[in-house]
Amino acid sequence: MDKMLVHGGHKLSGSVKISGSKNSALPILAAALLTKEPCVIQHVPDLSDIHYMLQILAFLGAEVERASGTVTIRAEKVKTIAPYEIVRKMRASVCVLGPLLGREKEATVSLPGGCVIGDRPIDLHLKGFDALGATHRIDAGNVKVFAGRLRGATVSLLGKQGPTVLGTDNVMMAAVLAEGVTVIEHAAAEPEVVDLANFLNRMGAKITGAGTDRIVIEGVSELHGAEHAVIPDRIEAGTFLVAAAIAGREVRLQRAEPNHLGAVIGKLADAGYRIETTADTVTLHGNGDPKALDITTNPYPGFPTDMQAQFCALVSRTSGCSKITETIFPQRFMHVSELKRMGADIEMEPGIAYVKGVDRLSGAPVMASDLRASAALVLAGLQAEGITEVNRVYHIDRGYESIDEKLNALGAHIERVKA
Ligand code: EPZ
Repeated sequence: MDKMLVHGGHKLSGSVKISGSKNSALPILAAALLTKEPCVIQHVPDLSDIHYMLQILAFLGAEVERASGTVTIRAEKVKTIAPYEIVRKMRASVCVLGPLLGREKEATVSLPGGCVIGDRPIDLHLKGFDALGATHRIDAGNVKVFAGRLRGATVSLLGKQGPTVLGTDNVMMAAVLAEGVTVIEHAAAEPEVVDLANFLNRMGAKITGAGTDRIVIEGVSELHGAEHAVIPDRIEAGTFLVAAAIAGREVRLQRAEPNHLGAVIGKLADAGYRIETTADTVTLHGNGDPKALDITTNPYPGFPTDMQAQFCALVSRTSGCSKITETIFPQRFMHVSELKRMGADIEMEPGIAYVKGVDRLSGAPVMASDLRASAALVLAGLQAEGITEVNRVYHIDRGYESIDEKLNALGAHIERVKA
């Protein structure tokens, strides 16, 4: 198990290339199960979560080939039971349910267990499948969905915390081969949902409205193979913009999609940073004295919950008091106690962090608890005095491709050592 030693106080400058999106690649790889023909997916990031998905696809009978960032999948025959051993490692495994139900009219996946960022039920996924005429049964820790035939229907995927991203993906993937028209109301509008719909349409699906809260899917009898390049990772891009804001002079993101970063760029501008964009680059100019912020996470195009922890690290050294309200995963504040170990001044209320800016943070041994919290600790380490020792960095490798090497190429000093 590795840990990272982040030496604070090094200035960042230069360019960094953004990888393909984890949260787009995962459902797109699963969607390849919908056809017997080969699917070629480019810009697939080299992450442990991607490895888990490829393991599941191979276990289900698909031929999987990988050559650097390109993955070829041919699912000529498929099994319909995904094993606990692999599924327990990654919640997103749940998104093989939709494609298997769509193609084979049955699927069994182990029910996702607890998650440190909060409650993560799949009731909306199952509600969507039931609306298409499926039945589901939960037994021995597994969820089984099955149907004689699937028929198009209208279903709302609105939950207590708003729409569901993977739920929208799953129901969309089940509905593409259903008889008739399906309408998903209160659909998630994330760019990753749009990217999946674009891939499915390349396979011959008939989907309109992706990117809005109303998606219409006209069922077809079969899908064919297709090629697709995954969109850039907007959360990796946002994380590097915060790194630049914390320790940068001038940092340019290449192969980024500025249109997907509106809320993040907006908050950085509110804090006083100058940001320039072109079609596929975003450049941030450091200013060394950011203003306090008031942030509330929301479904896209609102401020992403996956950037909340990183902004907690940013505002921990501003002049003034910031308020960060988490509405998607109200318990998603595991990073707070670790930032406080580094000297941050944070008061908590249910779902809200009040971050009073301090003059200095000091390096300390800290514990990563989940993917985005671990990124926040590395970012805090960039501005802390001394060395920050981030333990359990396997969390960060789930969603960031070589983040330490990329930051070091910008001028940081991060060592990855065996724990
Ligand atoms: C996706 O998770 C992302 N994961 C998450 O990113 C991200 O935080 C989340 O969307 C929200 O943007 C992937 O794409 C692989 P949801 P997902 O279903 O789809 C509730 C990261 O850091 N809900 O949109 O699982 C749920 O509890 C990860 O990369 C129900 O109540 O999230 C939450 O409060 C972490 N019933 C809210 O909806 C359901 O059936 C949004 O969850 C489903 C969800």
